[in-house]
Amino acid sequence: MSAYEFVDHSYDVVVVGAGGAGLRATFGLANSGLSVACVTKVFPTRSHTVAAQGGISAALGNMGQDDWRWHMYDTIKGSDWLGDQDAIEFMCKEAPAAILELEHYGLPFSRTEEGKIYQRPFGGMTTQYGTGPAAQRTCAAADRTGHAMLHTLYQQALKHEAQFFIEYFAVDLIMENGECRGVVAIDMATGKVHRFRAHMVVLATGGYGRAYFSCTSAHTCTGDGGGMVLRAGLPMQDMEFVQFHPTGIYGSGCLITEGARGEGGILRNSKGEAFMERYAPSAKNLASRDVVSRAMTIEIREGRGVGAEQDHIFLHLEHLGAKVLQEKLPGISETAKIFAGVDVTKQPIPVLPTVHYNMGGIPTNIHGEVVTLKNGNPDSVVPGLMAVGEAACVSVHGANRLGSNSLLDLVIFGREAARHCAEVVKPGKRHKPLAADAGDLAVSRIDRYRNAKGELKTSKIRLDMQRVMQNHAAVFRTGESLQEGVDKLDKVIDSFGSVSVSDRGLVWNTDLVETLELDNLLGQAAATISSALNRKESRGAHAREDFPNRDDANWMKHTLSWVDGRGKVTLDTRPVHMYTLTDDVEVVPPKARVY
Ligand code: FUM
Repeated sequence: MSAYEFVDHSYDVVVVGAGGAGLRATFGLANSGLSVACVTKVFPTRSHTVAAQGGISAALGNMGQDDWRWHMYDTIKGSDWLGDQDAIEFMCKEAPAAILELEHYGLPFSRTEEGKIYQRPFGGMTTQYGTGPAAQRTCAAADRTGHAMLHTLYQQALKHEAQFFIEYFAVDLIMENGECRGVVAIDMATGKVHRFRAHMVVLATGGYGRAYFSCTSAHTCTGDGGGMVLRAGLPMQDMEFVQFHPTGIYGSGCLITEGARGEGGILRNSKGEAFMERYAPSAKNLASRDVVSRAMTIEIREGRGVGAEQDHIFLHLEHLGAKVLQEKLPGISETAKIFAGVDVTKQPIPVLPTVHYNMGGIPTNIHGEVVTLKNGNPDSVVPGLMAVGEAACVSVHGANRLGSNSLLDLVIFGREAARHCAEVVKPGKRHKPLAADAGDLAVSRIDRYRNAKGELKTSKIRLDMQRVMQNHAAVFRTGESLQEGVDKLDKVIDSFGSVSVSDRGLVWNTDLVETLELDNLLGQAAATISSALNRKESRGAHAREDFPNRDDANWMKHTLSWVDGRGKVTLDTRPVHMYTLTDDVEVVPPKARVY
């Protein structure tokens, strides 16, 4: 018996996180007759999916010819051949049905004149296997698609009577002999520590964008699932691949959707040049994000940036006219006014590539089961543990995600996780008793930080980490700068031993929660920068100036990274899945990636 007085719960399945992936999994599970609890640190409709703007991809063909195989081709090319082709096939093929399902659940998509779901062009989305014109494939609810989706999914979860534990912070997994048996969480409002026992835990905790100084991610994006996985001694995958969105607002980092360029927006430098024509002659402003972010960075470096410091770029939307802006881009029109003081009908928006998405995450197979490298088997399943959404690396995005494939990933793999659980978990199956000390490690961790009386504030250590990541694991990287970053980050991790946390008890101790979040971020920052130093090639979002070419012979493989309690990183690899699930498509062999 543990000495600690836990509040105990038992469910068939526990989902951690209530963004798009978590909610889609939660209500799918409830609908299949399994008892399910969704544990979330924020109110579900405040999850970061709410901030997704431009849309969700699917080859519906509502606004021109389209085919899911073209979508698959584009996604593989976008991934720079690091994506697993079985997973990409699965996602793109399932996409049209998943969108219609969302429509039937009540998602208020924008409409064409004939009443079909409106679809806009997005970066890297083409037709005819890259040889035809740009595809209009991204289904949109104006520029508030994530908001509409999150509300739709939450309503479905309530309708299916899923149980929510809201403003509960998940601290650690309960692992026994390599199997996940549940999760420990603090109820932030009462300070009580809860033990959730489950046959399956589904991590849907999102990305860790807040490891960086400037990002489009909410303050809550601290990769809590990844932190728990690392502490459980399991690896993360492909952490070196961090996406910079080309159009974060200069200064604040707020997202200006790629849909703005999809609707015809143009990036211009200080000479007024639409410079993307030089970098991506065919796709221009709608090349994939890594390509556009690099082009912007080069323009700034070569002295063609705008503003007093010549350190950003202008996104022009004025030519689209007030009617289009009001109908298609109302959200970003408002955001630009508030955060840049710009009237988009008259002035350009100052923008800068800004950290937006983690292609890396917890490695899984297409069902969402977490996998690890065990006895030489790279696909060895961790019993009782699943991961979906940005927290996971399934890997459909490989080295670079295409815009609007993220919302799709959430829905497809959230749904698949629920379907798979329904297949392998019997409703109401009895739980084996937990080990006597189950959850004690989590409590001792909470106590350690609660009583931490060092001389450094959590916010100071977090800022130090964010500056290292921003300066040393940026759009362009070199071995020298990465090594410097690794060394500096080691020091930041050491300084975490001197953290000071205000001992306000456990009730609404946000300082404690932020410290636990920082612990999660530090491990993933270490995995990111060490994996980046290790990968001696350029692929997708990982652009090494000292190794400017892609090297398929040596590097067409996923990176696995383990991080111990002192921040020491161990690396290994697992193969990219170069096979498909069916004969409907063929593997797309690697070739040069030009837009
Ligand atoms: O630009 C955007 O609207 C973001 C979409 C995405 O990251 O998928």
